[in-house]
Amino acid sequence: MKPIGKVTLVGAGPGDPELLTIKAAKAIASAEVIVYDRLVSDAILALAPAGAARINVGKRPQHHPVPQHEINDLLVRLARGGRRVVRLKGGDPFVFGRGSEEALELQYHGIPFAIIPGITAAQGAAASVCVPLTHRGLATGVRYVTGHCREDAGLDLDWRGLADHRTTLVVYMGLSNIGEIVTRLLDLGRAATTPVVAVNNATLPEERCLLSTLGTLHADLSTVSFEGPVLFIIGEVVSLQSVLSKIGAFANETPLAAVAQ
Ligand SMILES: C[S@@+](CC[C@H](N)C(=O)[O-])C[C@H]1O[C@@H](n2cnc3c(N)ncnc32)[C@H](O)[C@@H]1O
Repeated sequence: MKPIGKVTLVGAGPGDPELLTIKAAKAIASAEVIVYDRLVSDAILALAPAGAARINVGKRPQHHPVPQHEINDLLVRLARGGRRVVRLKGGDPFVFGRGSEEALELQYHGIPFAIIPGITAAQGAAASVCVPLTHRGLATGVRYVTGHCREDAGLDLDWRGLADHRTTLVVYMGLSNIGEIVTRLLDLGRAATTPVVAVNNATLPEERCLLSTLGTLHADLSTVSFEGPVLFIIGEVVSLQSVLSKIGAFANETPLAAVAQ
């Protein structure tokens, strides 16, 4: 009988293949099977050995080609077959990536596993568009929230805490619910002038960003057509973008889709 294999849950980072960690690149390069998500780029998959099996279990919003329980079963089955599996996820496996659900399943079945972190989209996007997530005097903390809940259940967030003007708010998967998110924040007292940046395809050559404010975000979004993942950064720190991007522009040539003040 073949000895049991192992599963490494690997963060592929926000998109730019150069933002992959060395440890992640080594794990990919020694994988026998790669089970990967939609946001993992071809350039990163190309690091796998030519003979490695590649299994796409990517999901789109409202559309789950491979249900999570089947992904869990697949990982267990592959490892039981003695395979060295890399489970490759966009960003970081433990930030809105269901990495912990998969780790719990592997643990339950006694499959050895390891986690390799990745740069999450918030950090990738922030650096790429020159917006710090915290800054003395502007933000004492940062919160990552999901703008999309399970099976389209209503958004159940700590709205009062999120409306704190000293907190930078990063919204993942928020595009379809951004109207509700903005309304709730404004109702709880976050200023309409609070700057916001929406970043589409952060760190990739197709990156686009939209600078706006809470009060005008909904209208401004209707002037752009984003394709691919979008992340919102909301808070006073966004006001530093115009200053920092002047010197950072050589490295972060981000075309501004529109600028509204
Ligand atoms: C299911 S979550 C996965 C997050 C991932 N685990 C991470 O740590 O970044 C997918 C959401 O992450 C955000 N996202 C991921 N990559 C992005 C990118 N390159 N640009 C903008 N947003 C991104 C988007 O909000 C997208 O809807």
